[in-house]
Amino acid sequence: MVVGFSAAQAQAQAQNADHRQAQVEGASHTDIDAFLKLMTRAEKVGQLVQRMGGRSKALNSRLGPEELDRVRRGEVGSYLHVAGAGPLRELQRVAIEESRLGIPLLFSMDVVHGYRTIFPVPLAMAANWNPDAARLHAEIAAREASAAGLHWTFAPMVDIARDPRWGRIVEGAGEDAYLGSRMAEAQVRGFQGGDLSARDTIMAGTKHFGAYGAAEGGRDYAGAEAGERSMREVYLPPFRAAANAGTASYMTAFNAVDGVPTTGNAALLRSMLRDEWGWDGLLLSDWRAVEELMAHGVARDRLGAATLALRASVDMDMVADVYAEDLVAALESDPSLEPLLDEAVRRILKVKRDLGLFDDPYKYHDSARETEVMLTAAHRDAARRIAEQSIVLLKNERQVLPLARDAGRIALVGALADDALSQLGSWRARGDAADVVTLRAALEAAHPDVVYASGAASRSDDESGIAEAVRAAENADMVVLAIGEDYDCSGEARSRSSLELPGAQQALFDALEATGKPVVVVLTGGRPLAIPEVTERADAVLAAWLLGVEAGPAIVNTLFGANNPGGKLPVSFPRATGQVPVNYDHLPSGRPADPDLSKDTARYMDAPVTPLYAFGHGLSYTNFDYGEVRLSAAQIPAQGGAISVTIPVTNTGPVAGDEVVQLYMRDPVASVSRPVQQLRAFARIALDAGERREVMFTLTSDQFALWSLDDDWLIEPGTIELMVGSSSDDIRKRISFEIAGTATGSIAPAAIASGVSVSGE
Ligand code: NOJ
Repeated sequence: MVVGFSAAQAQAQAQNADHRQAQVEGASHTDIDAFLKLMTRAEKVGQLVQRMGGRSKALNSRLGPEELDRVRRGEVGSYLHVAGAGPLRELQRVAIEESRLGIPLLFSMDVVHGYRTIFPVPLAMAANWNPDAARLHAEIAAREASAAGLHWTFAPMVDIARDPRWGRIVEGAGEDAYLGSRMAEAQVRGFQGGDLSARDTIMAGTKHFGAYGAAEGGRDYAGAEAGERSMREVYLPPFRAAANAGTASYMTAFNAVDGVPTTGNAALLRSMLRDEWGWDGLLLSDWRAVEELMAHGVARDRLGAATLALRASVDMDMVADVYAEDLVAALESDPSLEPLLDEAVRRILKVKRDLGLFDDPYKYHDSARETEVMLTAAHRDAARRIAEQSIVLLKNERQVLPLARDAGRIALVGALADDALSQLGSWRARGDAADVVTLRAALEAAHPDVVYASGAASRSDDESGIAEAVRAAENADMVVLAIGEDYDCSGEARSRSSLELPGAQQALFDALEATGKPVVVVLTGGRPLAIPEVTERADAVLAAWLLGVEAGPAIVNTLFGANNPGGKLPVSFPRATGQVPVNYDHLPSGRPADPDLSKDTARYMDAPVTPLYAFGHGLSYTNFDYGEVRLSAAQIPAQGGAISVTIPVTNTGPVAGDEVVQLYMRDPVASVSRPVQQLRAFARIALDAGERREVMFTLTSDQFALWSLDDDWLIEPGTIELMVGSSSDDIRKRISFEIAGTATGSIAPAAIASGVSVSGE
């Protein structure tokens, strides 16, 4: 990479720097309006431009002399895909010392689940139902990324995804607006800390604003059909929760909702996000999304695309240079855009100020700190603990797990058991496969008698290795089989039309199962798979996702019981691809599925309507007993009411374990049809063997609101049913109360966090 300039250039630029100093003297660095007055129109437009400093897999690779000249001319506001305290200090120095106004640059990257210390992929992180863990991961990611000179991450990704064919389901928190909202706010708080200007925090870039996750057919970039109620109640709450947690930026979605491409959607962005929500941060387009307004067919040319996006209040154009090249012409032909330009510049300068860059533009560029903070023992330890918490025990027949220490010979089979790169998942920032402890390495270190056979590559149809794996199984006491998807099957542009096991892996499973040896499946990947043929016949199944640098130790600790799995599914697993979407919070039907009584019901002819594993499902090596639910009131007012729900939970089994206590609601009669269940509170609690604790959830009446026929949040009178349980399909207790009167709510119910207190904590 080339960052830097000659000594002669430096001397020549020194004069400019003096000139700049003098100019800026009159205006305080933090007085944005005064600053704005000093700027030419071209310099203003320059602030709206985000350029590629490299590629995600070749960071900094485009920072050549031409790029530096652009910075000198004040034509760039931000770079993405750049990193490194040294190189970025130098790039920042060019902006500060050699451009006329010396406005600092913003450096950004996709730090999605870790920077160097790679944590479980976000879908796995959501499976731990532990917002504190999500927050901790983001704090660590921010510490490492900021030490590498970065100011801004394009995360968290908070798109609700109900179609696992969509490869980007791996990047978010799954299907539910309430769980998604908790994960969103936790990560925003983790990345940004209490103080954006602290040198170990970075700005969150919550994405992809809109309904990207509703892409039709699960095909990435496809349009979404989501009505106003679905937008308000399902897709937007995590964004709202992120706003409440103070996200300083959002990225817009690529796709269109109901025919309107989000990046040019003034109703969604300007009227709702800015005016209604009162959010005033930096709004960034996704990669070339401003330019793509032409391909969507809503702009004739680049000038039209620039105008639409600016009118919609998109402040910064990622990569396409549409603002850079066409906004000046747009401003000339339409002077009414001028104040919109100023508004965008003001918002960009404000985040630069809030990050502390006007006070010290080099505060994030300390090479010593960069070396010190990466992949420390403490960061690895956090990665292992979070990975352990993310593992979901889907099935455990005859208590085959945990394995005894003297389990005899284990045949470890599956290419994924030995695939370090895959554990880094989609978006690995500076993660390095060499840092990963694989399942194979960890199992061989922990157990004296392990025989490994790959059996079949994770995506190839070649079955020639299966015979060797069968021989290994026949000579062993049991089989641990790692199958599923590798890292490259999920992520951006990784949509699949089938949710079955890729390649020859089903044949591999069938052959191993036929040996009669106990088979424990370690299911790898970034999306739910439709694998009833495996789950019905395996003895035990662990959903082990893509767990990051400490994947192997986390899985091995779980196999042997040092970690008792407590994760729960953040998304339902379908029985067949044709079942999707199969989300738990669907609407009731006038003819609910009842295959036994009548064929004219909402059923499939060839499959049940229930999922293979429901949202919230996850077993444990122990058992939890739910006592009687108590309510603080039988009735609450719609206006300003609150209710507490208390439930005792006892660990009745022989070992310590974590349980995620889940509270669902239903409004059985309302002015609009309501979902059969909606998550409204949860708590992950740790209980020793025999221990009992009481969990108390406190909900406000706002959390029972619906998006009304009059386009507002409305709390209606009547009965609310509550369900408390261990999964959406394992409800242990039911109780109901009344709401009296009517009131308008304030924000989306799912965006509001319930109060949680646990006795003895
Ligand atoms: C496109 C992706 O959609 C977005 O999530 C990402 O942040 C940008 N590329 C930048 O890498």
